[in-house]
Amino acid sequence: MTVNGVPVVAIDGPTGSGKGAISRSLAAGLGWRLLDSGALYRSVALKAGREGLGVKEPKALAAAASRMQVEFSSALDLEAAFLDGEDVTALLRTEECGAMASRIAAIPEVRKALWERQRAFARPPGLIADGRDMGTVVFPEAELKVYLTASLEERARRRYKQLIQKGIDVSLPDLSEDIARRDERDANRMVAPLKPAEDARVLDSTELSPEEVIARIKAWLGETGLFSN
Ligand code: C5P
Repeated sequence: MTVNGVPVVAIDGPTGSGKGAISRSLAAGLGWRLLDSGALYRSVALKAGREGLGVKEPKALAAAASRMQVEFSSALDLEAAFLDGEDVTALLRTEECGAMASRIAAIPEVRKALWERQRAFARPPGLIADGRDMGTVVFPEAELKVYLTASLEERARRRYKQLIQKGIDVSLPDLSEDIARRDERDANRMVAPLKPAEDARVLDSTELSPEEVIARIKAWLGETGLFSN
């Protein structure tokens, strides 16, 4: 099924599973739009910090989520994010922002406030939607649902490499602990917990290169008739 006539591929999975880079690459290759839903939750976290809002203020947080103006780039080599007109690309990527986003993402009012905004990303010619609940809650009718995972050790190693490359100083054990904590919170929350949709194809990428993951997803896309290569 399409979303208002637009084909959607949902790519969900835990932190560090590689779904961000895979989704960006797929979207760029297909010329489709990209929804990095984590960046939306991170933007709310950043905005909340700036407005002095805490997790005990769900209504104010939801209002901030509805009000904020965000713009993201889908380009392969240009991962840019603007919040209320300001370039927040680097700020969004910090571990601190990710941890705050995960706490804020457990608040039902915030998730509800972002639902429509996420659905609006489904525009022709197609959408690659990257997140935790793309296949379960936001795009339950998605044509293809992938649940991308990898071992905790491998995910921590990948995140470590990514952050060091971006000039962000972190320690691998701290990162591993942080990811485990975030997994736990994302998987056990009451609303939209992290889990594969019933009709998702689960792909463990621990032993796979990004190219192999992309090839697998493209083959699945081919099976749906959405894409042939
Ligand atoms: O994917 P990323 O690490 O940028 O996401 C940051 C946090 O936002 C996640 O840990 C998760 O708690 C939350 N999130 C979510 N639902 C999504 C995307 C992200 O709850 N669809």
